[in-house]
Amino acid sequence: MSELSVNHLLGIKYLQETDIELIFSTADQFKEVINRPIKKVPSLRDITIANLFFENSTRTKLSFELAEKRLSADVINFSASSSSVSKGETLIDTVNNILSMKVDMVVMRHPQPGAAYFLSQNVNSIIVNAGDGAHEHPTQALLDAYSIREKLGSLQGKKIAIVGDILHSRVALSNILCLQKLGAEVRVCGPATLMPKPIETLGISVSYNLQETLEWCDVANMLRVQHERQDLKYFPSIREYARQFGINQKTLESLSKEIVIMHPGPINRGVEISSAVADGDQSIILNQVENGVAIRMAVLYLLAAKKEVEFGQG
Ligand code: NCD
Repeated sequence: MSELSVNHLLGIKYLQETDIELIFSTADQFKEVINRPIKKVPSLRDITIANLFFENSTRTKLSFELAEKRLSADVINFSASSSSVSKGETLIDTVNNILSMKVDMVVMRHPQPGAAYFLSQNVNSIIVNAGDGAHEHPTQALLDAYSIREKLGSLQGKKIAIVGDILHSRVALSNILCLQKLGAEVRVCGPATLMPKPIETLGISVSYNLQETLEWCDVANMLRVQHERQDLKYFPSIREYARQFGINQKTLESLSKEIVIMHPGPINRGVEISSAVADGDQSIILNQVENGVAIRMAVLYLLAAKKEVEFGQG
């Protein structure tokens, strides 16, 4: 396959396994490019991309911007706090105004689940979802799976644990869908109050015991507690959370095998992961960040390569 089956990247849900493989093989080539002394290719020289961030972001925003610049695209940036959104403008109006300046692609992070899909149905542009509320974060899942593949050779039959605040995490849902499409076995682990009730219907296992989960898995992806999305108290204290669901050097040493440690960032050191583990030999956290640029280059390149955007298609 040389072309994606989709016209937008709205969620992992819409991708086929062959799409993911194509994104990975394209990212392999871009990873080589970004490790050269001249890190740039002219592939998107004729393309203008708008990064619309209606929610805070550090690494995702920088990673997309860098990916776009490495592909020689023209880039404009927009963040909600300094925009007319705060004056009451609708999302469609904001985006259509930006598109009338002849923008070809929109990368959007938004606090509302479904915002990227909604936009794809209502404006005529290629849409890339950079995180929509607690729903999906497809490029994060792709770079996570790509980093595991790089470390372990393949995803087929690998046991991946996703630990922490599953309820509020878009990284969890996109990771589950992506890992399953690539043949991995997934288990989620966290406090019962942070576990969405119908999660087992996704065909994964659930555990409330971190030690047992770590004994089971090849890779543990440690998620941050999403305080900004919580309106209730889901556990008694941060200290208690860290004791039951945080990973430290002692936990790692108590296991019968070496596991790979991941984290999407931003890290809360001493809560879900100790500094020694985050910075230790088993951690691939910085490889994830490096791979994020190559994966985003691949996604942007492959979407731009699709000649016609069929208006409104997933
Ligand atoms: C994640 C996000 O924003 O969903 N971070 C990221 O994209 N690098 C996870 C998080 O905020 O904890």
